[in-house]
Amino acid sequence: MAIKLAVIGAFGRMGKAICRLALKDATFELCGLIDALDQSKGQTYEQVTGLKTGDLMVVSDFDELKIQPEAIIDFSFHKATMLHLEKVAKKKKKIPYVIGTTGFSGDEVKTIKKYSKVMPLLLSPNMSLGVNILFLLTEVLTKSLGKSYDIEIIEGHHNQKADSPSGTALKILEVIKNNLNDDEYFTVNGRNGLVGKRKPKEIGMHAIRGGSIIGEHCVFFAGTDDEIRIEHRALNRDIFAKGALKCAEFLHKKTPGFYDMKAVLGLA
Ligand SMILES: NC(=O)c1ccc[n+]([C@@H]2O[C@H](COP(=O)([O-])OP(=O)(O)OC[C@H]3O[C@@H](n4cnc5c(N)ncnc54)[C@H](O)[C@@H]3O)[C@@H](O)[C@H]2O)c1
Repeated sequence: MAIKLAVIGAFGRMGKAICRLALKDATFELCGLIDALDQSKGQTYEQVTGLKTGDLMVVSDFDELKIQPEAIIDFSFHKATMLHLEKVAKKKKKIPYVIGTTGFSGDEVKTIKKYSKVMPLLLSPNMSLGVNILFLLTEVLTKSLGKSYDIEIIEGHHNQKADSPSGTALKILEVIKNNLNDDEYFTVNGRNGLVGKRKPKEIGMHAIRGGSIIGEHCVFFAGTDDEIRIEHRALNRDIFAKGALKCAEFLHKKTPGFYDMKAVLGLA
């Protein structure tokens, strides 16, 4: 039986990619679409996007869905995710909830983790296999070189992106800090003016914004005799959308808990 799937942020760049792929995938039956209503103006999703979803309408609230989903994928906006998630967490029937949205505050992440006590939940700032391998390589490089090399993170995204640094860059930073295991390291976001010499325990964080860049991340280890750069470039949004669908399938039969991409990709 196909998994009944609802997509939150359905009109977005990611939402559309997920719906397009879900329509071609027999694992899923697209049963619910949620977004801000002003984009549909009474039209069906198919009329707005051209995707073959028949008479499926987009609604703005979870309670308006005609069919109860068995899995939810949310790529919207951090405040929107918090509102939808709170509503779903209060339902009697616990629905697996995949969060691809980025830009959460520390307190919002704590609340998300709290909800994972009552429902299967997965939060990942980047659902591509390649970037998750980049996290692992960052771990290895930090452990072996981190203390003697200068570390910088450079990310690039399209000119519509709301949050900076990207959720993926912040995850890379978290991996580096966890593996340096030294509280004296600190982050410098960009450099401007007479900033003086680079301090040994700086970790540089730089964000490029422009055009239609889908997502680029580079972790740079600069030593005195050599440099190592590990870099990932997304060539289209399907890598994230495919990852999100994989997460929904993974989470579908899980018991409540907080899951991550390592578990989904078998990298744990
Ligand atoms: N985890 C990943 O792999 C990954 C990959 C790409 C993007 N992202 C993140 O996913 C999010 C969406 O990215 P995008 O490029 O599709 O953005 P987008 O702006 O194209 O789409 C966001 C959609 O959310 C909708 N939205 C806003 N408020 C809403 C609400 N209250 N309820 C329902 N929908 C609402 C918007 O109308 C819009 O259609 C961002 O946070 C982005 O950083 C994550």
